[in-house]
Amino acid sequence: MRITAVYPGSFDPPTYGHLDIIERSSRMFARVVVAVALNIRKDALFPPAERVRMLERLTRRWGNVEIDSFRGLLVDYARKREARVLVRGLRAISDFEYEFQMAHMNKKLAPELDTVMLMTGEQHSYISSNIVKEIARFGGRIDDLVPSEVRDSVFQKMKGARRK
Ligand code: PNS
Repeated sequence: MRITAVYPGSFDPPTYGHLDIIERSSRMFARVVVAVALNIRKDALFPPAERVRMLERLTRRWGNVEIDSFRGLLVDYARKREARVLVRGLRAISDFEYEFQMAHMNKKLAPELDTVMLMTGEQHSYISSNIVKEIARFGGRIDDLVPSEVRDSVFQKMKGARRK
């Protein structure tokens, strides 16, 4: 069976944790659509188009990974893409409650879709986009958390924000 999976998220910015989940799901499914959610947070550091561009560059090495964005309900988007699976990464128990609620709600909305949760690799379990932004805001090192091009873009953005 050739299963399409959708991996949705904010990806503001993409981290090594996200890339770990993308790489592993690309080995499990025929096609993985990484879907940047639009209009979720007004206080995002990167506009969605930039997040899409970054993800496109970072995932070029995996032939069955596609980057897209979506507006509205995830299940409607997944149906449109003819996906059978939603992928989410779990870093710690603290993620579980939110993911559990979302998986059940999505199942209620679209019973034909299943959520597959992948445990984020141990070495990435403490990474989150919010932590990356917080460390960068105070000038800390984020080299182990995001690829170098994301690091450069984060610092560039923050410099621009300070100038405003
Ligand atoms: O990376 P994030 O911010 O944890 O991703 C959350 C996301 C974008 C996957 C979630 O908020 C979402 O699916 N939003 C789309 C709107 C929707 O379908 N909401 C109902 C989810 S039960």
